[in-house]
Amino acid sequence: KTPVLHEEEGGAYVIGSYYDILHLLHDPRISSDAANLAAAGDDELTGPDSTGLPPSFIRLDPPEHDRLRRIANSSFGPPHCPRRIDSMRGELSRIVTELIDGLGDAREIDLVDQFAYPFPVTVICRLLGVPREDEPRFRTWVDPLVASLDPDTRRSADTEFQKAAQDARMQLGMYLAGLVEQRTKEPQDDMLSDLATSQGADGTLSMMEVLSTAVLLLIAGHETTVNLITNGMLTLLRNPEILQRLREDPGLSVRIVEELLRFEPPVQLVPQRTCIADIELRGTTIPKGSRIWLVLASGNRDPERFTDPDRFDPDRPDIEHLGFGSGIHSCFGAPLARLETQIALAELARRLDSPRLLQDPPPYRQNAVLRGPRHLPLA
Ligand code: HEM
Repeated sequence: KTPVLHEEEGGAYVIGSYYDILHLLHDPRISSDAANLAAAGDDELTGPDSTGLPPSFIRLDPPEHDRLRRIANSSFGPPHCPRRIDSMRGELSRIVTELIDGLGDAREIDLVDQFAYPFPVTVICRLLGVPREDEPRFRTWVDPLVASLDPDTRRSADTEFQKAAQDARMQLGMYLAGLVEQRTKEPQDDMLSDLATSQGADGTLSMMEVLSTAVLLLIAGHETTVNLITNGMLTLLRNPEILQRLREDPGLSVRIVEELLRFEPPVQLVPQRTCIADIELRGTTIPKGSRIWLVLASGNRDPERFTDPDRFDPDRPDIEHLGFGSGIHSCFGAPLARLETQIALAELARRLDSPRLLQDPPPYRQNAVLRGPRHLPLA
């Protein structure tokens, strides 16, 4: 077992053990700032800034990170009591019911295209306050934008696709800017209104800051949630006795989702970190200016931390994981992602009649950061 892997001059330092990752995620000498990363030599995993907006708080260090995150939080609700999320419980169940109703009596379905993909984008629309009549239009911009972040697509020479993504970005930006202007004049009970009119101790957000925060929520929360739901259903179908228990006890979804975040985390690694000082780790000096990759998925299966780490076991007494990261950048949307996935899996278990995997393993996305099936065909 190699605690610090460094294969080539100028390459990233790869960290895979639970306690090292946890420790580094809390170390202020590890920067998330996009400018530091660019100076350290950006690479294909971190990708270009694809939005054209100023860096959002996931790519900033304190104090700017903290200011922007606090403002966003005041609209979301405090981390352990997210009032806006809790109040969405009924809405989330309605969206899930509609999507499952839409599956009808088809003999074959693709859980990704027909359920896991449309669910989070509908939710984020309602959260931000995109009017329902605009949701279909909004989706036509979000889909190519999200697809263009996939390294598979980025590498492709399909210029037409790249152009479509570029157009979609512009249209989405203009649409959101119009909506923000409108919500500034006539605020409603939604996140865009709160972001546009925030006036606390942290000051106000500029139009560009509101836009980059809205796009961050959209992007950070989409594919990740799609993958957690899909990885979840796949894991349950491979563990039929747990699926049956969930059918009988929907409350088990809470433990199932936590164990999934350990066992099959959608975000496999955090590649956007740079050391801003020399760091000693287990006898290795990681020099200032180096890039670091924190492999959350590996930490989650570290035998020094977890008993029988390769077993999916929602009954383990110490359910804990790095699936949402940790420290100041830990997942902002965690309460929403948890609730969405708990409701989705409990309802799928209850409503799908003896579901069966048609392909195991299913086809996966070719993406080192985000892990999840591209399709999940079920009968
Ligand atoms: C940050 C995972 C859903 C918004 C993160 C990080 C991880 C993560 C690992 C840490 C990144 C880092 O340290 O650089 C996930 C997973 C999700 C999910 C596995 C679904 C299962 C969501 C949702 C939203 C969201 C639904 C928004 C509605 C964010 C934001 C950050 C973040 C804004 C940046 C926080 C900061 O820099 O302070 N997420 N996420 N995520 N996530 Fe999530």
